[in-house]
Amino acid sequence: MPSETETRPPALPAGGRVRVMTRWGAPVMHRPQQQVTVFDDELRELAADMAATMYAADGVGLAACQIGVDLAMFVFDCPDAAGEHVAGVVCNPVLVLPEGKDRHLDDGEEGCLSFPGAFVNCARPDQAEVTGVGLDGEPVRYAGDGLLARCLQHETDHLYGTVFGDRISAKARKRLQKAHDKASPDYPADWPTGVTESRRT
Ligand code: NI
Repeated sequence: MPSETETRPPALPAGGRVRVMTRWGAPVMHRPQQQVTVFDDELRELAADMAATMYAADGVGLAACQIGVDLAMFVFDCPDAAGEHVAGVVCNPVLVLPEGKDRHLDDGEEGCLSFPGAFVNCARPDQAEVTGVGLDGEPVRYAGDGLLARCLQHETDHLYGTVFGDRISAKARKRLQKAHDKASPDYPADWPTGVTESRRT
């Protein structure tokens, strides 16, 4: 998901390489990805590349499939409703959403770095929790509201092969496509590898 702020706490592995963003339509984006079973330096390097790519693209979350890797892992650095940034890495995530009277939908705007330059509203529960394991294979749990709740749901969706375009009406999808097409000159095929600080400002 694209971000709205520039605050970046150092909670993610650093030193990664910015990779080319995989777009909707690539097969890896539309099928469930492999579970992570090996927690080694290679996985840490992948997470560092994902973080570097997410920041270069000015995003708040990025799944491994978005740099073409078939592994159930995402990174995020996203503010909650109070503006508090939470950042982390989740492998093999399981999403828990409120049910019954605790379930309230937030019809806020959503976008995806793999379909850049376009946003439409997408109704999702306003609270979300994700459990999984971190880079060391130990259990992790993240929960939150606001954009963080949306981000945790959006990124977990990616690992199951679902993009948010699958969750909106045909009419909204058309609007999304139009906005994306209009913005496409800003997002060349090698984006965001060519992004520099000066271009973003
Ligand atoms: Ni996305």
